[in-house]
Amino acid sequence: MRIILTLGLLLFFQVQAASPGAIHASEGMVVSRSALASTAGVEIMKSGGNAIDAAVATGFALAVTYPSAGNLGGGGFAVIQLQDGTVVTLDHRETAPGHASRDMYLDKDGTVIQGLSRQSHASSGVPGTVDGLLTLLEKYGTKTRREVMATAIRLAREGFPLSRDMTEQFAGVLGFMQDHPTSHKVFSNNGQAYREGDLWKQPDLADTLEIIAEKGRDGFYNGRIAELIVAEMQRGNGLISLQDLTNYRSVWREPVHGTYRGYDIWGMPPPSSGGVLVVEMLNMLEPHDLAGMGWGSAAAVHVLIESERRAYADRSEYLGDPDYYPVPVSKLIAKDYARQRFSDFRADQASNSATITPGKWSEESIETTHFSTMDAAGNAVALTTTLNSSFGNRIVVTGAGFLLNNEMDDFSIRENTANQYGLLGREANSIEAGKRMLSSMSPTIVSREGKPYLITGSPGGSTIITTVLQVIVNVIDHKMGIEDAVALPRFHHQWQPDGVIYDPFAISPDTLAILGKMGHKGFRNFPFGGGLGDANSILVKEGELLGMKDPRNEGLAVGY
Ligand code: GLY
Repeated sequence: MRIILTLGLLLFFQVQAASPGAIHASEGMVVSRSALASTAGVEIMKSGGNAIDAAVATGFALAVTYPSAGNLGGGGFAVIQLQDGTVVTLDHRETAPGHASRDMYLDKDGTVIQGLSRQSHASSGVPGTVDGLLTLLEKYGTKTRREVMATAIRLAREGFPLSRDMTEQFAGVLGFMQDHPTSHKVFSNNGQAYREGDLWKQPDLADTLEIIAEKGRDGFYNGRIAELIVAEMQRGNGLISLQDLTNYRSVWREPVHGTYRGYDIWGMPPPSSGGVLVVEMLNMLEPHDLAGMGWGSAAAVHVLIESERRAYADRSEYLGDPDYYPVPVSKLIAKDYARQRFSDFRADQASNSATITPGKWSEESIETTHFSTMDAAGNAVALTTTLNSSFGNRIVVTGAGFLLNNEMDDFSIRENTANQYGLLGREANSIEAGKRMLSSMSPTIVSREGKPYLITGSPGGSTIITTVLQVIVNVIDHKMGIEDAVALPRFHHQWQPDGVIYDPFAISPDTLAILGKMGHKGFRNFPFGGGLGDANSILVKEGELLGMKDPRNEGLAVGY
C-alpha cells in the first residue's frame, strides 16, 4: 500500500490527499483499484483527452497492474454519459464459444463435473475487453491507440514494484497454478513467491499490448495472438476457435433508465442483470421513508433485504442475454410492477424465500473491478470489468502473457444449480453457442438535470448489485457525503440462499436480534478480505469532482 501511494504522490503531485478521504478536483478524475491505472487515466486527460480516453487508458493499465480482475482475456460493461447529456452503454461481455452447448459441464448422468465451468480451459468465454475498449476509443475518444496504451505497455515492459496486496494475491493463487507452467512463471519470481517491493515485469503481455496498439482489434482477434489463444485452448480441451475470435463484437445497448426521488438512474441492461435489479429495487424502496427510519436501523435493513429478496428471485427466472431470450426489461423496471411485487411486504415480518433448491455461499474469492472517470466537460464513464473469479481460470495464454476468464460459470450450467456466487438460473440463462452469460455487473450513473451526479459500480459477483444500491441510497436518502456513502459497512441478501451476509459492524447485535425476531435468518460475516464490494465512485458537488476510493481495498482516486 505504502509503495503504491508513495509512487502516486511522488509522480503526480496533483493528488491532494490519499483515500479514505475523497479527492477534490475540477478538471478530471479517475478512481480505480490501482493507483498506477488511475494515474494513467488522469495523465491522458491532462494531455487533452476526455473521460472516455481516460477510461480506455485505465482499462488497459489495469490489465497490467491489477491482473486478478483487470484484463485482456475477460469482458465488461460501460455506462457513459456524454457532455450533451446522452447516455450510452457498451456491452463487451464474453460470449459462449461456437461449440458450447447447454449440458457441456454435465456428465452423461446429468451430474455437474466439478470444476469444469470454473477451473479449466473450457470455462473461458470469448474475451470482449479488447474490442470493448477499442470500440469506446474509436466512437467517443479523441486520442490514438498508442497514446492511451503507452502507459500500460511501459508498465508491462519496464515493470513496477509489487505492493504487499499484490504479492498476497499472487501467493493466494500460485498453488492453483502448479498445473499451468506459464501461469506459474508469470506470477512467481523464478518459481519463488514474489515479495513486496520486487519489480514485476510482463514481457509477453507488453508484446501483446504492442501488437494491439499497432493493429487494433485485428491484433487480438486475428493473427498471432488469436492463434496463441487457440493453441492454449488445444492444450486443455478449451473451445474458443479462430472463428469465435474473428466473430466477436461488443454491442451498444440502450441503457436501463429509472428514476428515484427525482434523480435519473442509468444502468447496464441485459446481459447484465445489474441495471434492471438496481432500478427494480429502488422502485420498491421509493414509497418507504428510509431517511426517517435511519441508516442501519432494523426497519431500514428489513425493507432493503425484502426488496433484494424479490429482485433476485426475478433475476433467476427472467434475466439472460436479450439476443437469445425475451427478457421483460420494461415490465421489471416499471413502478407499477414494483408496487405489485412489494404489495406483500410487511413492515414487521420477513418473507420466506421460495423453496426451490437452495444454492450455497461460495468460498471462492470473488473478483471483478470497477472504475469511474469524469472530465471537466461533463463526460463520465462507469466501467466494470472482470475475469469472473480472481485471476479467472488462472490460465495464462502461453506466449501472450494474459489470463483467461472463467465466465462460462455465470451461465446456468444446469437448472437451479448454483453458480460460484450461489445464484440460480433457468432457461433465460442456459448455455447456447454465441450467447452472453448473465452478469451482475452494475456500472451506474445517477444524473440530475442531464448531468452526472454520482458515478459508481463495484466488483463482488452477486453482491455487486446490492453494493451499488446501498451507495445510491446512502447518497440520496441518507444525504451522506461520498466518503461515508462508499465506506460504511454493507449487507447483502440474494433470495437464495436465504441469508444475509454483512460487513463487520454493518448490523449491530440489537438490530440483528430485531431482524431475527422478524424472521430473517442465516446471518454471517462476509468471508473475504476487504469487505463487500469496492465501489470506486465520483460525486459531483457544486461543480467539484469528488473522487472516493473504496477504503476496503488498495487503489487511488486521482484528480487534478
Ligand atoms: N462474473 C461476475 C458477473 O459478471 O456478475
